[in-house]
Amino acid sequence: MAADNLIDGRAIAEQIHAETSQRVAALKQRSITPWLKFIRVGEDPASKVYVGMKERTSARLGIHSDTAVLPESTSEAQLLELIRKANADPAVHGILVQAPLPAHIREQVVFATVSPDKDVDGFHPVNVGKLMLGADDGFRPCTPAGVHELLIRSGVSTAGAEVVILGRGNIVGKPMAAILCQKDKHADATVTICHSRSRQTAAHCRRADIIIAAMGVAEFLKADMVKPGAVVIDVGVNRISDPTAKTGSRLVGDVDFAAVQPIAGRITPNPGGVGPMTIALLLQNTVKAAERATG
Ligand code: GUN
Repeated sequence: MAADNLIDGRAIAEQIHAETSQRVAALKQRSITPWLKFIRVGEDPASKVYVGMKERTSARLGIHSDTAVLPESTSEAQLLELIRKANADPAVHGILVQAPLPAHIREQVVFATVSPDKDVDGFHPVNVGKLMLGADDGFRPCTPAGVHELLIRSGVSTAGAEVVILGRGNIVGKPMAAILCQKDKHADATVTICHSRSRQTAAHCRRADIIIAAMGVAEFLKADMVKPGAVVIDVGVNRISDPTAKTGSRLVGDVDFAAVQPIAGRITPNPGGVGPMTIALLLQNTVKAAERATG
């Protein structure tokens, strides 16, 4: 199939940014500037890149942001103290603690310390619970919510569809399943999660109308695992060594794109698919937090 089966995540993210910008402008008319606080611990190179991209896009949309960069040696107690200060600061509407955190810091304790009202990542147990319950007054995690928007806005119907999610992580796989199995005309899917201990992963994939690859294994999804015409969404970002590349390595997704693209009905490019949507949903969540906090 020709390249016209691509789902353009950049273009759809720009549609969402345009909506978010209008909401920012409405807040500014009331002298409110949405404020998103990033917290980054240590020097993980990928986290630096991700936070940098989120900062730049915030600025483009008129959202104020600042980033606290803490050393790798920061204790859990010091990090929790910083989060509590941001929770108590009425000027801060959203707080994002970039994962992964150093091994001596318990991620779940950190996420549970962010005020649920400022939890634009959707990782606080209250927001995780609201997602499970199908309540619409919580914050949904940005990557699965971004994939959901991508499907809706590119006209892919999930109702009654067989969806296979590869990966069971807390950031993508599990919340993605919760979103797509909701009783809702934009969900209503039959969801299967496959993971590292699954048997018959390839057979599950071959039955799927929609495959969402989010397990973090470079180019895992091969052409013989995809039903012709299936929709394929690639969430993966994996660095693999490549002696022919200038830096000696390059980024690839969880999908063997060159082999799968001709078979798929629709497919996300990577980069340019899910990544921009994650940022779009983060900034949408931030504006929602600012609107809520200010009535
Ligand atoms: N690390 C990888 N994805 C994410 C995300 O969506 N939010 C945060 N805070 N950290 C991440």
